[in-house]
Amino acid sequence: MRAPTAAPLLEVDNLRTHFTTPGGLVKSVDGVSFTVGHQETVCIVGESGSGKSITARSIMGLVRRPGRVVGGRMNFRLRDGSTVDLAAIPPDSATYRAIRGREIGMIFQEPMSALSPVHTIGSQIEEGIRLHLGFGARAARERAVDALEKVGFPGARQRLNTYPFQLSGGLRQRVCIAMALACEPSLLIADEPTTALDVTTQANILELLLRLQGELGMAIVFITHDLGVVAEIADRVVVMYLGQVMEAGPASGILGHPRHPYTRGLLRCVADIEGDGLLRAIPGIVPHPLARPPGCPFSTRCEEMMPGLCDTTAPELLAINGESRVRCHLWSSGQPHVTEGAVHG
Ligand SMILES: Nc1ncnc2c1ncn2[C@@H]1O[C@H](COP(=O)(O)OP(=O)(O)OP(=O)(O)O)[C@@H](O)[C@H]1O
Ligand code: SF4
Ligand SMILES: [Mg+2]
Repeated sequence: MRAPTAAPLLEVDNLRTHFTTPGGLVKSVDGVSFTVGHQETVCIVGESGSGKSITARSIMGLVRRPGRVVGGRMNFRLRDGSTVDLAAIPPDSATYRAIRGREIGMIFQEPMSALSPVHTIGSQIEEGIRLHLGFGARAARERAVDALEKVGFPGARQRLNTYPFQLSGGLRQRVCIAMALACEPSLLIADEPTTALDVTTQANILELLLRLQGELGMAIVFITHDLGVVAEIADRVVVMYLGQVMEAGPASGILGHPRHPYTRGLLRCVADIEGDGLLRAIPGIVPHPLARPPGCPFSTRCEEMMPGLCDTTAPELLAINGESRVRCHLWSSGQPHVTEGAVHG
C-alpha cells in the first residue's frame, strides 16, 4: 500500500458495457466511474453479478461477445506520460495489444482459464516477454525464470517444461501472477486471485502480491468478496451493485463510516455492527440484470427504502466531503436526508 500521487493512472468515467442477449440487453456495467492513482490499491467489492469482472475485462479490452463497451471513457496514462482512452480503441488493435500485458497485467478469476492446457508454463510466460519486450528466445527464458523465482515458484528453471495440469492450484496461480507481472506493468488487475485457494495459500499469495507491488511500484485494482482483505490492503474502495457504483471513497471512511445502506449491509454480513453479537445477511437476492428495479437498483432490498422516491427515481452518484461519493437519496443533498426525526449516517 502506497500513498497515491496527484495525477491518476487510470480514470474510468461513466463506463457502460452491455451484452445483447436473446432475452434482452444485459447492462452488466452501466455508468461506472472511479480513479486509480499511481501505486494505489483500489478494491472493488459487491455481491456476485454486480459487474466487477466485466469492469475488469472492459479495462483489459477482453469483454467476450456478445458483450461490448458501449460508452464512457477509460483514460490510462502510459509509461511515456501520454494518455490513451482505452474505450476509444478497438480491443483487437495493435495499440491495445501493446498495452495489455505490458502496461496493464491481469490475474483472472479462474486461473485455469488464463492458462493454455497444451503449452508448457515456460512457453506461456515467455510469449508475452518476447511480444512486449522484443527479447530473443534465450533472454525470454531467463526473464521467465526470473519472473517465476520472484513469485516464489520452487525449482523454476527445472520446471519450465511442466504443464499447468501438473501443478497444484497455488502453483498455477503463481504462474498466472508471474505471467501478469513478467513485463512489469504499472497497473495490475487482480480478479479474486485467491478465491479458489485454501486459506493458507490465500494468505501467502496476498502477501506476495503486496511485496511485488512495493518492488515494482505498481497500482492494483483488487476485486474481492472478502472485506477482511479490503481492510488489510485497500487505499480506496469502490462498492458496486447491479452494474453501478453505490459508494466509493477512502477505505477508512467506507469501512469505518459507511454511508450507503448497501455498504452497511455488506459490512453487517461480516461484522457485528449493532453490537448484539449477530451477523446479518442482506435480505432478498440480487435481481436478475434483465429485471432491474425502477428507481434505485437496491430499492427491493433496502431497509431504508422511501416509497414513492426510491422505487421511482434513480439516485445520482454525488460527491460528499471531497473524495467520497454516494448514490442514495438519503444523501441526495450532499447531507444525510432527515426522515421523521431520524438522521441517517
Ligand atoms: N456473456 C454474458 N452474457 C450475458 N450476460 C453476462 C455475460 N457475462 C456476464 N454477464 C452478466 O453480467 C453481470 C455482471 O457479471 P460479472 O461477471 O461482472 O459479475 P461479478 O461481480 O464479477 O460477479 P462474481 O462475484 O460472481 O464474480 C451478471 O449479471 C452476468 O450475468
Ligand atoms: S436510494 Fe433509497 S432504496 Fe436506494 S439505497 Fe438509498 S435509501 Fe435505499
Ligand atoms: Mg467476477
